[in-house]
Amino acid sequence: MIKHDVVVIGGGLAGMRAAVEAAEGGADVAIVSKMHPVRSHSGAAQGGINAALGNREDDSPKAHTFDTVKGSDYLGDQDAVAAMCEDAPGQIIWLEHRGCIFSRLPDGRIAQRPFGGAGSPRTCYSADVTGLVILHTLWEQLERFGVKVYEEYFCTALCVEDGIGTGVVAYNMRNGALELITAKATIFATGGAGRMYAKTTNGYASTADGFGIAYKAGIPLMDMEFMQFHPTTLKENGVLMTEGARGEGAYLLNALGERFMFKYAPNKGELASRDVVSRAEWTEILEGRGVDGCVLLDMRHLGREKILERLPQIRELALDATGKDAINEPIPILPGAHYTMGGIETDKWGATRIPGVYAAGECACVSVHGANRLGGNSLLETIVFGARSAKHAVNYIKSVGEVRPSERTLKAQQERVSGLLGRTSGTRSPILRRAMNATMSENTFIFRNEAGLRKAVDELSAVRKEFDASAYVMDKSTTFNTDLVTTLETDFLIDAALALAAGSLARTESRGAQARTDYPERDDANWLKHTLAWRNEQGPPRLDYSRAVTIADFAPEVRSY
Ligand code: FUM
Repeated sequence: MIKHDVVVIGGGLAGMRAAVEAAEGGADVAIVSKMHPVRSHSGAAQGGINAALGNREDDSPKAHTFDTVKGSDYLGDQDAVAAMCEDAPGQIIWLEHRGCIFSRLPDGRIAQRPFGGAGSPRTCYSADVTGLVILHTLWEQLERFGVKVYEEYFCTALCVEDGIGTGVVAYNMRNGALELITAKATIFATGGAGRMYAKTTNGYASTADGFGIAYKAGIPLMDMEFMQFHPTTLKENGVLMTEGARGEGAYLLNALGERFMFKYAPNKGELASRDVVSRAEWTEILEGRGVDGCVLLDMRHLGREKILERLPQIRELALDATGKDAINEPIPILPGAHYTMGGIETDKWGATRIPGVYAAGECACVSVHGANRLGGNSLLETIVFGARSAKHAVNYIKSVGEVRPSERTLKAQQERVSGLLGRTSGTRSPILRRAMNATMSENTFIFRNEAGLRKAVDELSAVRKEFDASAYVMDKSTTFNTDLVTTLETDFLIDAALALAAGSLARTESRGAQARTDYPERDDANWLKHTLAWRNEQGPPRLDYSRAVTIADFAPEVRSY
């Protein structure tokens, strides 16, 4: 049996930041990851990380807090948002002191670019590869502290004994063994669930693992109906074209050559919040002013030099996928599934309802993003809440004696996996995923309504039943059985998708990224509250609304950009 003080599930930015914090705090900490940490999806984050660094007099953590609360359409918990924005400058300096290479102003200070929904330019960046640069910085810190990484271990279940978290069970992909990893504190940092959708900016590894594991263990998922659709993704492959392009001055054009965003957001135009820009684009496309189902991202006027200095990666990505060079031609783009704003319910220290179990980063719902996340706050969330959850965990483990290894969870997982491998026929996971992706993309995209959402809940419930009755793994081998891993991932994705669709159907209002054509207004009187989804083996989740939104300095107002 493997044993550590703290075990972190996931090796992306939140996971590595948590592990380094725990190591600095003197804990024996390990990471369990299904891939090498520097291959994590965090490396795909492009445009930057927000912090009110004090470069400008008109910026402050309070201004950052206000922009984030307004961006969230007032659903973010204001104490948690303030904690994130106040910790932000210190965390950027922490990264810088550990060698993170940020782009610079001529006078040597860290450069900051404008991002959507922000009152002043506060997005620190490394050209358009910010996530990758931070990922490598943190990897160096893991090496420095000698943190043990269980690489190519796929976590399948959380262990809970005597009411507290006691580690996890993980599947060793190299030899097919299920292993018990006992720990006094467990931190989930497994990233998002974008693969619920057919088209997404998310990597193939963003499969709701932490969501599904925590949910099956009895922790509620919060605010899952709020899925963010990024306004600028490539039609060909869903790949992100960073908001940093618009931050640097790029335009959005329709088929008539109009900069249409000022019709929808007279003050901010292309730099309105993401929900507003995505709805505007989709409206242009639906009303016939699109170009082959897209609108155009035009960077030509930025000039070759600026594009090559600040946006080199997206120029290459667009060139590879579309054959178009952004220096000379506009790039066709459309909104795509980008970020799961809901997730494992936590408090502002990342603690869940089960003592010793934490979540940080995209898999968590703290909640700092509410109904709509601001660009640049996701990298920030990983760093701030990775560190905060580890700080809390390091304190927590001081009060915990030896924990009981959960042999019964190991046995249950062995039975689950041998049950799947023992089946000789049934439905393979790609078929189940395709059915899930189809209904999610058709019925839970930018504009939603009751009929579509009902259809999604019914169809996802049918997929859930079919998975349980007949999910079939054709490959029976024990070495890198990706058929099995994909099947387990599909199980988690179905849970997350069903929570999203059921939450969206129940919420009879429009707020942030949830746009209901049948309920077009925000309804604070009835819906200024969080959705908690509890797993129900028999079908869609049980929903409850017992968690109120924390309002502090900013009373809800009409939101316009
Ligand atoms: O557009 C982007 O660079 C994405 C940033 C984010 O999601 O925070």
